[in-house]
Formats: sequence, structure tokens, C-alpha cells
Amino acid sequence: MIVYLNGAFLPPEEACISPLDRGFLFGDGIYEVIPSYQGRFFLLDEHVERLRRSLREIRMPDPQPEQGWESLLERLLELNPGGDRSVYLQVTRGAAPRDHAFPTRMAATVFAMVSSIAPPLADLPDRGVAAISLPDQRWGRCDIKSVALLPNVLARQQAVEQGAVEAVLLRDGMLTEGAASNVFVVHGDAVVTPPLGPEILPGITRRFLLDALRAEGWDCREEPLPESVLRSADEIWLTSSTKELLPVTALDRRPVGEGRPGRVWGHALDVFRRARDLAISNAGTRAKS
Ligand SMILES: Cc1ncc(COP(=O)(O)O)c(C=O)c1O
Repeated sequence: MIVYLNGAFLPPEEACISPLDRGFLFGDGIYEVIPSYQGRFFLLDEHVERLRRSLREIRMPDPQPEQGWESLLERLLELNPGGDRSVYLQVTRGAAPRDHAFPTRMAATVFAMVSSIAPPLADLPDRGVAAISLPDQRWGRCDIKSVALLPNVLARQQAVEQGAVEAVLLRDGMLTEGAASNVFVVHGDAVVTPPLGPEILPGITRRFLLDALRAEGWDCREEPLPESVLRSADEIWLTSSTKELLPVTALDRRPVGEGRPGRVWGHALDVFRRARDLAISNAGTRAKS
């Protein structure tokens, strides 16, 4: 494996970061996870745009010139060839004597590495996954993709200890999102997901799925979702760049709908995959021309 650190491509054991790095000391940084299929990125522009937005929101100057992120990420993928991969990219406010306020002179730390995207469980279409619900104990700016993920880590650990793959979070009786995913609910004829705002991450997969379904004439709503609607949902789905679109078939050990992946999920996954393959091949054609 070859990773990227501050301008160099090198083996991970040679990549050294200072213990004074503000990412380590304060969680003062942001990140992205960008999926690729057979060597081609999916929605790279959208991920780079969200990365730039996160940097602006934490008041960090962008350390890369125009197109710099794209070339760095493409190069890293070339150096780590193989099937379906995701790139983890982290940018922190760099190393400086420990003080909460920003250092006056600062050089960002930029790190990126590649991981395999785990193949979907072979029996997933029959079984789906289990989730638990928990109070959302995160801060008021969950729209920023911050590396400070302690509440998410604790929530996901609780899910795993209860045999589930994800924790879905509730704030003041309303669904927000998963510990590392957005959530969709099918209720009667409606496909609903919570609206954007400071309580949730503007998921790239969420946006792409909404656009793909709407383009095929589906009625998808972005509306607040009370806990009662979550609990009486016919179907619940999780979306993320590495999970794509996962059906939740048990919530807090109770079956969701009929306790197996729903019919609507099957159709939505077809629409998603077709749109995904088209987007990847269009981006490839654009890059060549
Ligand atoms: C808290 C949270 N919400 C939503 C998502 C899904 O976002 P995306 O579809 O951009 O991967 C993630 C992804 O890791 C996440 O961590």
C-alpha cells in the first residue's frame, strides 16, 4: 500500500505525523471518503466540493491549488490498483504548540490512504441489516465532516455490541441520521429523508439517490421525520459512499415492515446502480476529452 502525506507518496510505515498535530490534539480537521469502482472515482467533483466547504466552515485556507485534490487522488488510486476502493482523505490545521486558538503560522497536514470497499454481504438481499436507535449526542454542526467523531464512535460501538451494524440517531424526538450514514424511510407511498441542516451531514450518496429517483418520477420528500414514523416505517434504508444503499430489516430487535429487504428498496437499488454506472462512465469520458 502507498499513502499520501504532505506532498509525498510513500509506504504507510514511512509516513510520520507530529504528536503536536492539531488533528491528534484537538480533532481539529476534516475528512472525506471517496469511492471508486475499477479504478474510476464515483462523484469525485461532489466530494471535492464538500471538502472545500468543510475547510471554509472551519476557517482553514484550502492547501491545494485548483484541480490539486483531483490530481492527488487520481495519482494515489493509480499507485494502489485493484478492484473497488475508497480513498480516505484527511486535512488538519497542522502541528503547532498546543493552544486552542489557531496558530498564526500554519501548514496544514494532508493525509490520504486507500482501502477496499467491502463486498456487500452475499446474503444481504435476503436478510438486510440490523440497526439500533440512540439519542443523538453530537454537536450542533454535524453538516461539517469533522474528524472529531467520538459520539459517532461510541454510538457505532453500542450498535456492534448489540449485534447491529448501525445506530440511527434521534434528536428531540426527530430522526437525524446514522452514526456514519444518512437514513431514508419508506412509509406508504412516500420515500422520505430528513432535510439538510446543521443536524446532518449533506451525504453525497443521499443527494445522488434523491436525484436519481426523482429523475425516474419517484415522489421523494426531504421532511422532518418524527420517531413514530421511523418506528412504523415499511422500510428503512441507510446510504453512504461505502454502503451505497443498505436495507435495515430490524430496528431495536423489532422487524422493520416484514422483516426482510423491501420491494421499494430493490427498485431503488436498481435505479441507483444504473445511475451510478452512467455517472462513472460519463466522468471517464469527460476526463479523456
Ligand atoms: C455522519 C454521516 N452521515 C452521512 C454519511 C453519508 O455520507 P456520504 O454519502 O457522503 O458518504 C456519512 C458518511 O460517512 C457520515 O459519516
